[in-house]
Amino acid sequence: MRAKKPSESFTLMTEMVLPNDTNTLGNLMGGRLLHWMDIAAAIAAGRHCNRVVVTASVDTVDFTAAIKLGEVVSIEARVTRAFRTSVEVRLDVFSENMMEGKRRRCNSAYYTFVAVDQNGRPIPVDPIEPETPEERELYDGALRRRDQRLTATKEKA
Ligand SMILES: CC(C)(COP(=O)(O)OP(=O)(O)OC[C@H]1O[C@@H](n2cnc3c(N)ncnc32)[C@H](O)[C@@H]1OP(=O)(O)O)[C@@H](O)C(=O)NCCC(=O)NCCS
Repeated sequence: MRAKKPSESFTLMTEMVLPNDTNTLGNLMGGRLLHWMDIAAAIAAGRHCNRVVVTASVDTVDFTAAIKLGEVVSIEARVTRAFRTSVEVRLDVFSENMMEGKRRRCNSAYYTFVAVDQNGRPIPVDPIEPETPEERELYDGALRRRDQRLTATKEKA
């Protein structure tokens, strides 16, 4: 097992919002954005784990700002912390209007992925070693978020 840096698995996905991605108001559909976020997060998790990973949970995602047809969506995915068989990934979504040259933050979320073997059973993952103050802050917060989501999962069961 080798302790990896968050920068080794950092993932940037860029998409342009096309007509088939939008609702009748010309806004990006929430489900399409969640799909792109899932893929970006899975790539970051897969790069860290070097294993097949499955989505175990998606924390609350708020759609506070509409993203319009023709805008460019950038999704940043970074592994915040590795646990035994799971990793937490933070997603930050930005939207850019190329005509106006303006970029704005749209939303953020945390996804949890579990590395699995060929039979779909959880398998240990490499540890992660934060380097920057921002990475350290995300790393420290991950433990609290994990406790909260596992408690919420138990309450739903
Ligand atoms: C995720 C999955 C592999 C976990 O399997 P499991 O038998 O419950 O495994 P365990 O109880 O041993 O838990 C394994 C890890 O998953 C984590 N986990 C399980 N449920 C979780 C949840 N709801 N949220 C976050 N993490 C979760 C555990 O905390 C544990 O992490 P750790 O080893 O780092 O401590 C299994 O539930 C699964 O295959 N789910 C379907 C995944 C899928 O198809 N995703 C796409 C949805 S369409």
